[in-house]
Amino acid sequence: MDKPALSICGLCACFYLKNRTIKALDGVDMDLYPGRITALVGGSGSGKSVLSLSVLGLIEKPGKVVKGSIMLEDVDLLALPERKMRRVRGEKIAMIFQEPTNSLNPVIKIKDHLFEVNRLSGERLERRAALGLFQEVLSRVGLRDTNKILESYPFELSGGMCQRIMVAMGLLAHSTVLIADEPTSSLDLTTQAAILKELGRLRDEGISILLITHDLGVVAQMADDVYVIKDGRILEQGTVFEVFEAPKHDYTKLLLEKTDGTN
Ligand SMILES: Nc1ncnc2c1ncn2[C@@H]1O[C@H](COP(=O)(O)OP(=O)(O)OP(=O)(O)O)[C@@H](O)[C@H]1O
Ligand SMILES: [Mg+2]
Repeated sequence: MDKPALSICGLCACFYLKNRTIKALDGVDMDLYPGRITALVGGSGSGKSVLSLSVLGLIEKPGKVVKGSIMLEDVDLLALPERKMRRVRGEKIAMIFQEPTNSLNPVIKIKDHLFEVNRLSGERLERRAALGLFQEVLSRVGLRDTNKILESYPFELSGGMCQRIMVAMGLLAHSTVLIADEPTSSLDLTTQAAILKELGRLRDEGISILLITHDLGVVAQMADDVYVIKDGRILEQGTVFEVFEAPKHDYTKLLLEKTDGTN
């Protein structure tokens, strides 16, 4: 197999609350490979979002990454100053958040969000060509009325629409790695299918995708590799085939049974 595009080693993250410390990640190892979708599955509060935010350098007080390394192209992201990390977020790692309305700036029009992504991606298109590209990308994620959307502010759009705009920003960024935290959770089935198709297309272009989802049906359909996380620790990992056919842990079996809908 190729060299991993992103390699996480021994990652520990804590939240220091007044009366206690929460160990949200407790020695996580994970490799993301070019052209593969890696799913991260686990119950609520198991550390999935903390892991993705750690990779992006977005853990804020009272939280802190306390140990480990996150290597991207031979650079440890944990050692980068915020100024350089901001560039990594724009150019190398795209993200689709669980709460899309929080991650778009409410006072910036959609088109200006997209101009910024395009600028950071280094593509430097002139304005009209860029707007044409934005319309194409928006329609690829199933949005209509793209002219109107480009002129809108995030607060004028629904949560599902904002989520699709996050996906469009990911497509536009030409990143090496895409982190998608529940990218389809608030969407109807048709839109969900459109977004999954785009993720598949990005994979085929060679991007490494970390897909966080509660939906094991989506994992079976989309992912190549899967990691199971519980209480901040990776319980098991393997190809989707390996883990789904022969789960090693009772916890994984339980997750799989729940999805069957048979009990
Ligand atoms: N800002 C915060 N302050 C305090 N604790 C936090 C904070 N963010 C996360 N945690 C804690 O870290 C742990 C992991 O949370 P995380 O958000 O990563 O869960 P998750 O797996 O993404 O859950 P879900 O499936 O519900 O999105 C939980 O115990 C959570 O309470
Ligand atoms: Mg989460």
